[in-house]
Amino acid sequence: MVSPIRFLQGIESLTQNPRMIFLEIGAGRDLTLMTRRVFQDSLQQKSLSLIPPENWDDTDDHYFLHQLGRIWLHGHNLKWKKLYARNQNRKIPLPTYSFQHDSYWPETNVYQTINEIKTNLNTEKRIKITDWGFTFSWERTGITNTELSTVSRRTILIFMDDCGVGCHFDNLLSGKGYDVIKIFKGLDFSPRSKNEFQINPKLADDYNRLLSHLTQFNLLPQKILHLWNITQQSNNNRWDTFVESQYDGYFSMQFIARAIGKQNLTSQFSFFVFNNNLQTINDNERIRLEKSTLLGAIKVIPKEYPNISCRNIDISNSYLTKFNEKDYCRLLHELELENIHQEIAYRGSFRWVKKVIKIPLPKSDLPLIKPGATYLLTGGLGGMGLVLARFIAEHAPVKLLLTGRSFFPLKKDWDPWVQKQGADDSISQKILKLKEIENLGSTVVTIQADCADLNAMETIIKKYRIGIDVIKGIIHAAGIADGKFIQRRDDQDCLKIMLPKIKGLYVLNQLFSFSKLDFVVICSSIASVIPSVGQIAYCAANIFFDNFAVENALGKHVNVKSISWDMWKDVGMGVRTLEELKEQRVAGLFIKHREAAIKKGSLIRKQLKFSNER
Ligand SMILES: NC(=O)c1ccc[n+]([C@@H]2O[C@H](COP(=O)([O-])OP(=O)(O)OC[C@H]3O[C@@H](n4cnc5c(N)ncnc54)[C@H](OP(=O)(O)O)[C@@H]3O)[C@@H](O)[C@H]2O)c1
Repeated sequence: MVSPIRFLQGIESLTQNPRMIFLEIGAGRDLTLMTRRVFQDSLQQKSLSLIPPENWDDTDDHYFLHQLGRIWLHGHNLKWKKLYARNQNRKIPLPTYSFQHDSYWPETNVYQTINEIKTNLNTEKRIKITDWGFTFSWERTGITNTELSTVSRRTILIFMDDCGVGCHFDNLLSGKGYDVIKIFKGLDFSPRSKNEFQINPKLADDYNRLLSHLTQFNLLPQKILHLWNITQQSNNNRWDTFVESQYDGYFSMQFIARAIGKQNLTSQFSFFVFNNNLQTINDNERIRLEKSTLLGAIKVIPKEYPNISCRNIDISNSYLTKFNEKDYCRLLHELELENIHQEIAYRGSFRWVKKVIKIPLPKSDLPLIKPGATYLLTGGLGGMGLVLARFIAEHAPVKLLLTGRSFFPLKKDWDPWVQKQGADDSISQKILKLKEIENLGSTVVTIQADCADLNAMETIIKKYRIGIDVIKGIIHAAGIADGKFIQRRDDQDCLKIMLPKIKGLYVLNQLFSFSKLDFVVICSSIASVIPSVGQIAYCAANIFFDNFAVENALGKHVNVKSISWDMWKDVGMGVRTLEELKEQRVAGLFIKHREAAIKKGSLIRKQLKFSNER
């Protein structure tokens, strides 16, 4: 060695290139570490060794590839073909999300959007209450076609019913060139033959297995006929049978959508969901209430999965028993019609579509509020509950029973509570509102009870002696907010949202004779008409409410009203949700959608929809 190595000067001269990478090829990491000392923080230089350190607990190959990956990440092109020259490699699709550079947030500023919505709500011209009313109506769209077109080898999937409709469809469609694949209910996923499969409706994974199988054998359909909701049993209006029936309807649709999403299937799927006795065109038809939730799935799934379209086709039992071949063809002709309407009904030779129409609301002078009467408000300590309680108290001195699940101090502790916790505390604020109500001359009783718990509700009825002879009216305002994409939710997530609303209503219906009350007001939401993404269960539960009122009106209990509220301005879960969204950007999609929905819904906004005004 005749002269010094001058390592430092050598590296300094090489680091003139701001994106230089130094590779140490040999055992040890001394040169790598020495080189790093020369790097300037502002420059994007790297020093890597290609031999794994002692503590590397994976294979050498893995380390080598890992380092190559770092070089690539640093922006250097590698000759991948040379690297894999001796291997039989092939490209596979990676899960898209974390590698995709598409932004999923709305282009608009989320906070600005929230503020705009709020400003709109504040400055909007007040519409007269009598103009707030909208309801559903059916429009006849003429006599339908009974000729089916012939196709060449198109796969179609039928979820087979027990009433024989699927068998007729199978014969007709096979005769027209379709390859029909039939899905039956069974204990687990298994093929019964080349084009017959069974799945367990309660197992979400069976839908995945079915779709994987169909994909593997190139049998994925474009059209799917879901007939599991064409049924014969009668409705007993109980929560346990309600839950059981969801697996043939609402959950079945949710599980399929989730399986399509899970398998990244991006081709177009058109669902034709047939059922009986979900819609009423004539006064003599009754609704199978437990099927109502299916409409929630049909409305929300296409919003969360742009490649899925859904249509609901209702047939009535009385026509079903008299069906002939022409009638089956008429139903199948639906497959050839444009997807404009989501809710369709067939009665005889006629096709009907559901529409929202404006109805004038009568001016109310509240004759129903009687001085000295007792009224029960479930969710009475919530945002809307407290406003409605005060509203009643402003019209007459009454007794108000307000229920909720959370702890609430006894009346004797109200003043000490406010003193100790301060007026900003959330319970203190409620106490102050309750005191205002009492100052109007009414008596308030707060009750801690889950309205969906029959035993708990029976106990409070005994404890407070509030039998049907005492209660004159009920407002059902118990509910919890929803917000989860279908892809991330399971059946239990949905039942949690449905519980206070649907089971709560079943319990109230069981404990009180609704026909003997002056009024039963059910707090539904505009989400039943214009649902948002992330709200499939909320939408479904509110549609159940609306149908409950219609069903009661058909049974002549016209005192039962379901009001599909739009978002309340200052109180309640809607305002809280917006506040939460402000905190966490997470629901950008929700906001964007909500904004669009509000624009679209200017027609139907802030309305009272008395579902039984027919
Ligand atoms: N606010 C709106 O803009 C709006 C719009 C359309 C429809 N709605 C509907 O109107 C109803 C009331 O809404 P809100 O805004 O007043 O909501 P909120 O402020 O969250 O009040 C709901 C109340 O329900 C209670 N609750 C929940 N589960 C219950 C159960 N199982 N048993 C008894 N009480 C229960 C909650 O208290 P605990 O947690 O203590 O039980 C809460 O106090 C909801 O059904 C909602 O879907 C609201």
